[in-house]
Amino acid sequence: MVLVGLPASGKSTWVAEQGGVAISSDELRRWLRDDPTDQTIHGLVFRLMREFVRNRILLGAAVTYVDATNLTRKHRRPFIKIAQHMGCRCEAVFFDTPLEECLRRNSLRERRVPEEALRMLAERFQPPEIAEGFDAVELIVAPQA
Ligand SMILES: Nc1ncnc2c1ncn2[C@@H]1O[C@H](COP(=O)(O)OP(=O)(O)O)[C@@H](O)[C@H]1O
Ligand SMILES: [Mg+2]
Repeated sequence: MVLVGLPASGKSTWVAEQGGVAISSDELRRWLRDDPTDQTIHGLVFRLMREFVRNRILLGAAVTYVDATNLTRKHRRPFIKIAQHMGCRCEAVFFDTPLEECLRRNSLRERRVPEEALRMLAERFQPPEIAEGFDAVELIVAPQA
């Protein structure tokens, strides 16, 4: 299950509610650097994420959640490939939370993404599609604030 959504769109909250295990890019940054916002180890973090996902599948995990923004096809493609090579389903869970709501939630939290960065990510965002190789795209619509 590849989570897709802007920062503060509600990904980590949702996955915690599901009660499943999430391979989280922010958690890996925290494990490696004590700082979930450290962006200087991007390549390492995503290599480790892929390795965790592969190994969970090998060990027979029923479901693995990939908790990162996964905003572009390029970012999502490696996870789709892993699932295809290993004979698993791969679904996108798309957090379709409006930018203004993400900005509002972001401003309320301790660990804040700069507003300009969030706006730039929103511009680059490519919504997930079946055509890129997902077996399903589930839409999580934010409740009206
Ligand atoms: N459905 C929701 N309605 C209102 N606020 C939410 C909802 N889901 C998450 N939040 C709040 O929004 C903020 C960001 O949520 P989080 O799950 O950390 O987002 P992400 O993991 O996508 O960055 C948190 O403060 C969280 O409490
Ligand atoms: Mg999160």
